[in-house]
Amino acid sequence: MLFNMKKSISRRSFFDQTIGISAGALILPSLKGMTFNGSGLKPMIISSHTNDTGKNAMETGWEILSKGGSAVDAVEKAANVIEADPEDTSVGLGGLPNEDGVVQLDSSFMDGKTYSAGAVACLENIMHPSSVARLVMQHTDHVLLVGAGALSFAKAWGFKEENLLTEKARKIWLRWKEDLSPDDDWGVPEHLQNLKSGTSYWKDFPDIEHHYGTTNVIAIDINGDIAGCTTTSGLSFKLNGRVGDSPIIGAGLYVDNEVGAAGATGRGEDVIKSCASYYIVFRMKEGRTPQQACEDAMLMIADRYRKVNPDYLPSEKFVAISKSGETGCAMMKGTNKPAMSVRTEKGYLKQEGNIVFPDK
Ligand code: GLY
Repeated sequence: MLFNMKKSISRRSFFDQTIGISAGALILPSLKGMTFNGSGLKPMIISSHTNDTGKNAMETGWEILSKGGSAVDAVEKAANVIEADPEDTSVGLGGLPNEDGVVQLDSSFMDGKTYSAGAVACLENIMHPSSVARLVMQHTDHVLLVGAGALSFAKAWGFKEENLLTEKARKIWLRWKEDLSPDDDWGVPEHLQNLKSGTSYWKDFPDIEHHYGTTNVIAIDINGDIAGCTTTSGLSFKLNGRVGDSPIIGAGLYVDNEVGAAGATGRGEDVIKSCASYYIVFRMKEGRTPQQACEDAMLMIADRYRKVNPDYLPSEKFVAISKSGETGCAMMKGTNKPAMSVRTEKGYLKQEGNIVFPDK
């Protein structure tokens, strides 16, 4: 079944299709004055990434959306910009490796119009896991490919293998390895460790960069169709084969044209167990705003852990968008308000969300 389908959509036509995104955009008439799905919708694109690369990614996505391109295309091309940044240690090229020094990438893609989804996990040597996830979504009847199978699939579509471990990431990994001793184990789950609010195991190693960093990109196109992507190198120095929330549909990403979409960054283990992105979209369907729904998800996670460890605060950040373009963003840890990138016809905006305080 898979191979029959692949034959009917050759790799040649795949690359033609990709090139066609911009060519197609050129022959569209000006969109000025068009109505947007009759409901005041305008195209827009958001991301959890707010640095310069995140802003560039939003401009890349906007370029596609503003010419009438699809949310799926805009999201993929925007995510590709972030994945290609060698300075960013949380995603794609330059992402921090696993404990063996190997960069293993996770990504998911979802199309809210067709409810199609695709994902890859533990993908090595391919800079753009989001593009591979999109192909899983559009050209297979599967949702998730992992490891060697994901790599074979990517190569079959013409992706070239390359070394993703930059010198910067390798040095950070080496510094982490220096502190390992033969007595170390992997510890108990983080939410059961004796952590005081806002502190962590890593406080003893201020010079070692580490994180659960991830990127969410979500867009609404001129037709009101919504698509999203989550892409990451995952938890720094993770066990070989560890899969986080990012490639798990419903955890790191969920998209529903009838409601909106949500994405997660932060400790994937929390997000998987709470099906957080699905929960946020579900809450929006029940009438909550994206901001309220993100805060609901934070409180839901904290409330569960409070029963076993009152000192633990989840480290996640959630972003969400409703089908009418309202946005929300929340986290529980941190001194600064969480922020997200938003690009609309009014330009680029770094929009603040809320820090959520756990119920006492
Ligand atoms: N949220 C990314 C990860 O935990 O892998």
